[in-house]
Amino acid sequence: MRKPLMAGNWKMFKTPEESIDYLAAFLPLVADHERDEIVLFPTLTALSEVVSALRNTRVAAGTQTMHWLAEGPYTGQTSVMMLSKIGCRFVLLGHSEQRSFLGETDGSINLKLQAALAHGFVPLLCLGETLAQRENGETEAVLRKQLRGAVAGLTSSQAETMVIAYEPIWAIGTGHTAAPDLAGWTHSLIRSELALLFGQTTASAIRILYGGSVTPHNIEQLMAEPEIDGALVGGASLTPESFSRIVHYGQPA
Ligand code: PGA
Repeated sequence: MRKPLMAGNWKMFKTPEESIDYLAAFLPLVADHERDEIVLFPTLTALSEVVSALRNTRVAAGTQTMHWLAEGPYTGQTSVMMLSKIGCRFVLLGHSEQRSFLGETDGSINLKLQAALAHGFVPLLCLGETLAQRENGETEAVLRKQLRGAVAGLTSSQAETMVIAYEPIWAIGTGHTAAPDLAGWTHSLIRSELALLFGQTTASAIRILYGGSVTPHNIEQLMAEPEIDGALVGGASLTPESFSRIVHYGQPA
C-alpha cells in the first residue's frame, strides 16, 4: 500500500516569520491527520527554523534544491551535507522552474539524486512536458527520457525510497489542471518506465504525485485515480486553510 503524500511547494514565498506564523495555524489543523504524509518546502532562509518547529510533529520539511557536493567554491549554492546537518530530510529535484530558469539538466539532477540518497534524503523527482510537447505527441518520449536521465545508476533499493512528481508544465500555476484520467494515464506510463528500469515490485512501491494547479476543489477527483499517490501543491499550499483542505480531501472539513 502506498501511503499518500501531500507536499506544499512554497517556491520563493514567505519570510522566516511568515513561515512560522503559517505553522502556528497549520499544525493544529493536521495534528490528528494520519492518512497522508505531509511535507512542506519553504525557502532556504526559513528552512532551518521550519525544520526545528516541525520536530515531533506529523509534518516534515524539505529543501527546494541542493548542490551534490559536500562543500567547495560554488558561490550561491547550498550543499547536500549542510542541508542534512540541519535535519532536513526531503529534497525537490528537477522542478520545471529550476530546469527552465536555472539551467537544471537531467545530468545535474542525476548527480543531486545520487547525493541526496547517499545522505539519507527522500528525493521528490519532478518530471513534466510542455504544452507544445504534449500537442506534438511527444509526452511519452519526454517523460521516459527525463526519468531515465535522472535515475541513471540507481539500484532498485535506492529507487524505492524516491518519490516522483508528475507536473505537466502547462498546468503549473495556470489554473489548467490535467484531467484526472489524463493524469492517471500519464502516471501509469511513468510507472511502466520504472518497471522497465527497476522491476515491477520496485515500480509498484514508488509513489507518483500529481502537481499543477491542484486546489481544494479538484484534489478529491485527482486522488480517486488509483495511480495518483498524492499531490505537489504550489499556490494552494500558501495558506494553511487551503492546504489543510487539500490534505483532508474526501473528509469533512
Ligand atoms: P501550482 O504549482 O500548484 O501553483 O500549479 C505546482 C508546482 O509548481 O509544484
